[in-house]
Amino acid sequence: MAEIRIRKTNEIISGEEKVRDFLNKYEVIYEHWDTEKLPHELRENFSLTDEQKAAVLEAYQSEIQDLAARRGYRTWDVITLSEATPNIEELLAKFEQIHTHSEDEIRAIVSGAGTFIIKGDEQTGYFDVNLVPGDLISVPENTPHFFTLTDERKVVAVRLFVEEDGWIAHPYEDPAFQK
Ligand SMILES: [Fe+2]
Repeated sequence: MAEIRIRKTNEIISGEEKVRDFLNKYEVIYEHWDTEKLPHELRENFSLTDEQKAAVLEAYQSEIQDLAARRGYRTWDVITLSEATPNIEELLAKFEQIHTHSEDEIRAIVSGAGTFIIKGDEQTGYFDVNLVPGDLISVPENTPHFFTLTDERKVVAVRLFVEEDGWIAHPYEDPAFQK
């Protein structure tokens, strides 16, 4: 299950209900997919072929269709990142810049792990949401954030989009950011 770390205070928030309650304050959606639905050969596999990516989407077809019906997503795909990804250093350097989007950024972690760093209110400041397989998060539109990998540097995630260009990143300079 996801865990939250508040950067200013190092406070850790864990446990599904507490994590969801905290994220709800910032209109961040947190849900969970059943990792048992993923066929064994697709688990912890970070170099998926196109056929295997399609099989991941097939395994979670009902969850995806449910989200699409509830929230208007029209396209979805599977992204894999690992040390085997060409230009991983450049990609991560690009990811690790605070930005916003005109639509929400929704990700379901299928394998591996990832962290969203999100701006809360003035008092709370930035917080990390550490995600593990089965965790689904949606960062609201216009909320400053960025995504990064853990030290393991391995993730497979499902992304969903409303518009093809809705995911364009608008840089957000923030002197208040706590590194
Ligand atoms: Fe983003």
